[in-house]
Amino acid sequence: MSTRILVVYYSATGNTAKLASALADGAREAEAGVRVRTVPETAPPAAVASNPRWQAWVDAGPHHETATLEDLEWADGFAAGSPTRFGGPAAQLKSFLDSTGGLWAKGKLVNKVATSFTTASTAHGGLEATVLATNNIFYHWGAIVLPLGYTDPRLLESGNPYGGSFVSRESAEPDELALDALRLQGRRLATVSRYIADGLFKDG
Ligand SMILES: Cc1cc2nc3c(=O)[nH]c(=O)nc-3n(C[C@H](O)[C@H](O)[C@H](O)COP(=O)(O)O)c2cc1C
Repeated sequence: MSTRILVVYYSATGNTAKLASALADGAREAEAGVRVRTVPETAPPAAVASNPRWQAWVDAGPHHETATLEDLEWADGFAAGSPTRFGGPAAQLKSFLDSTGGLWAKGKLVNKVATSFTTASTAHGGLEATVLATNNIFYHWGAIVLPLGYTDPRLLESGNPYGGSFVSRESAEPDELALDALRLQGRRLATVSRYIADGLFKDG
């Protein structure tokens, strides 16, 4: 059975969605079975309408199926992505992650491999803070937190060792450098998840 990877993300204007797709492509390159899922939009309609790009993204959806707890249970490894919101992950993603108490209580998330990614509009606007804050949840689950590191020479150019990220200046879409980093993160997630899942299987 191939390694099972869940990519779950929230996106208001499409950037995180593009990063999620690149990460999923990287996991598929490593021959994983991949589910890409989003989370419900919970912002009030007036807030969405205040930003034409946000409204357009919502109107063009749904972009992926909505994540369920079963998706988390299914996965050997997962990646969680969100735009940086005031230096942390968006409430929409956090709300989904906060719904996992039942799985957590049964130990169903233990020893799964977990990694995070983000995008922000400025280089010092909280990329690392968002990745680290998202990863905090994974520690509580007993998951194995996977950093991107500088695990490939291409990441030395503009990599983020905490997790894939993109600085979206003036609403720019993710560039090839960023998408490449996300593909590397997906490949790494699938590969390490396979090591862990195979090891657990052999150990009974
Ligand atoms: C409410 C709000 C808060 C934001 N907070 C930050 C921030 O703290 N730092 C930053 O650099 N960008 C911030 N941004 C910009 C977004 O993170 C950035 O535009 C991101 O690329 C959007 O991703 P998306 O297209 O997936 O929604 C914020 C945007 C909004 C709407």
